[in-house]
Amino acid sequence: MDTYEPAPNLESRTGLTLETYILEGMLGRPEARGYFTSLLSSLALAAKLVTSRVRRAGLANVLGYTGDENVQGEKVQKLDREANETLMRVLSRRGVCAAAASEEEEEMRVLSTAPHAKYVMMFDPLDGSSNIDVNISIGTIFGVLRKEHDGPVEEKDFLKPGTKLQAAGYVIYGSSTMFVITTGDGVHGFTYDPTVGEFLLSHENIRVPERGTTYSINEGNSSRWTDDVKRWNAWVKGDDKATQRPYRQRYVGTLVADAHRTLMRGGIFAYPGDVKAPEGKLRLLYEANPFAFLFEAAGGAASTGTERILDIVPTELHQRVPLALGSRGNVADYEAFVRGETP
Ligand code: AHG
Ligand code: MN
Ligand code: MN
Repeated sequence: MDTYEPAPNLESRTGLTLETYILEGMLGRPEARGYFTSLLSSLALAAKLVTSRVRRAGLANVLGYTGDENVQGEKVQKLDREANETLMRVLSRRGVCAAAASEEEEEMRVLSTAPHAKYVMMFDPLDGSSNIDVNISIGTIFGVLRKEHDGPVEEKDFLKPGTKLQAAGYVIYGSSTMFVITTGDGVHGFTYDPTVGEFLLSHENIRVPERGTTYSINEGNSSRWTDDVKRWNAWVKGDDKATQRPYRQRYVGTLVADAHRTLMRGGIFAYPGDVKAPEGKLRLLYEANPFAFLFEAAGGAASTGTERILDIVPTELHQRVPLALGSRGNVADYEAFVRGETP
């Protein structure tokens, strides 16, 4: 394969397209050309296709439910299904992705048996479904693992701890569409310019602040929380000038949006396990792990409360996990409460 020489270091990279960034190996993996590059650029294409649907959602008869339920027993929205099919179609075309696991499908879907199909992808095609019809931010979440053998792809190729992720990211369809990605060192954000049809580098090297003063949790579940989570929650709302409490509360109900705000501004997002659902609601492979990988790469943290998310060895494609992510300091406070301490 021809090698592609990156441009000399420019003073500012702002305005570079996502494709250029990927092609020139600027995602922190200069050695990664060819197949990996092809995989990442196919994600950029899928994101453009999905954003064009999302942006016309109210006009193009894609709002509402399909009448089906997905593997989680949740009602499937038309956009959930469209986004899922778009990702599957785009990924299968390049032949570099052996299989994909999606929130919308019970089993992994084999996409390529070509020898160069060296990766597997996990994704939540449309995150925040309940917000689609009310014009609130939604997103797409993805994670990429290497297929570590030459045989046919198997479910166990997906059941790897998050520390093994090769790349992870999300697309937020918010006031603008933004593509945020990491290959493990450095998190970069690209904002979509619909007039030219490209994602342009707008946020190079995103770092999550060491601490923040915002907390994000579905407080409607509070009667089911464990006592430790209740104590933490009372603490963040307590009055203390030195620690800038009470914190402010923000909750969109779209993980992508709540996590994106937390990444940019600091603070903490939590979806804990509770007495009714000890494992919480969010899914390890295509919700918690990609965000855990992104937050750690940006200097933040992600924990179940007792354990680092990225260390968990998954046993099932759709397993759920309690999740707390955000600034290192805020996640450490949360972990202290879960241990029964007060920071
Ligand atoms: P999805 O739309 O992919 O099923 O995910 C919804 C998730 C996540 O986006 C969000 O953080 C969480 O559900 C909100 O749940 P609650 O409505 O229980 O707060
Ligand atoms: Mn989701
Ligand atoms: Mn979803």
